[in-house]
Amino acid sequence: MRVRARAGSRGRLAALIPAFFPTFCTAAIAADTVAAAPLQDALHAYGIQAWHIGRLWNFTLTLCALVFGAIVVACLFALWRAPRADAGTPPDLSSLARPERRLHRSIGWAVAAATLGLLALLAADVFTSRALGRLPLQDAVNIELTGHQFWWEARYLDPEASRQFTTANELHIPVGRPVIVTLKSDDVIHTLWIPNLHGKRDMIPGRTATLQLRADQPGTYRGQCAEFCGLEHAMMALLVHAEPDAQYEAWAERQRRPAPEPSGVAADAARRGRALFLANACARCHTVNGTGATAARGPDLTHLGDRRAIAAGMLPNDRAHLARWIQDPQALKPGVYMPATRLRPAELQDLIAYLETLK
Ligand code: CUA
Repeated sequence: MRVRARAGSRGRLAALIPAFFPTFCTAAIAADTVAAAPLQDALHAYGIQAWHIGRLWNFTLTLCALVFGAIVVACLFALWRAPRADAGTPPDLSSLARPERRLHRSIGWAVAAATLGLLALLAADVFTSRALGRLPLQDAVNIELTGHQFWWEARYLDPEASRQFTTANELHIPVGRPVIVTLKSDDVIHTLWIPNLHGKRDMIPGRTATLQLRADQPGTYRGQCAEFCGLEHAMMALLVHAEPDAQYEAWAERQRRPAPEPSGVAADAARRGRALFLANACARCHTVNGTGATAARGPDLTHLGDRRAIAAGMLPNDRAHLARWIQDPQALKPGVYMPATRLRPAELQDLIAYLETLK
């Protein structure tokens, strides 16, 4: 298998542009907001599925470019051959008397060439589709991914119920092992698209779809919701961390544990923060395993500290951004369902100290 390797502001109008062109614009926004931006590039495959799709794209582009080139050359040739005339030249009607056999033959050749080209595209499409369905699935990781306005809920499935766990907005997958993603939606139609690993697949409320992918090189790849799903559609990103098997298993093992008891120098502040978390609106929407917070309206925060970004890939996961996010999510992501939490500065610091222990 060949997989090419590669080293790896907002006003109202600025916010509208990425809503319609998320593929190109959100990569730029993420680069601005999340340090060391992950790859989001359909033209560079880092998995076998994306490689098949890339090959289909290259074939389609080459064929269409050849046809376009041939049409331009034919037009230029016709212009060059056309008789020069001025206002005084009498109309040339001689062609009316000539048989049109040559013209018919040219049209016949053009129709045959167009039909062959379309058949070639159809065949390439069918072969690509078959190749995508042939990914070996032994030893696959099973993930149930649910789309919400405007975040992703990921449930790692396991035949043993006690080994299942839930996380949000960031997937970890082992390099070289297949991943079966079962797609669902909680509200409206979303579309999963991780261009470096696979094509798009719709997430339709009331239906279940699957996507099979495999990352063949370690790295962080950025996925994006590719179906307009509301005001913050363009800010609905999914980071996929592909890592060696042992590293993935260690991460999964950590996710299965409940949140750790606060310890270290900031333990007292973290305990006060936990009490605030449970007493305020936080616990009515979020789960933190091992505490009384078990709601599932928003992302599971049991291991929030493990994530690189918050707000579905929009902001770096650090103190300053957490503080701004908790105080006024609407200012950062208008239309998001998270309400503002009014806390005194010292309380906010305690709450952040607690969130930072969730690793
Ligand atoms: Cu979800 Cu667009």
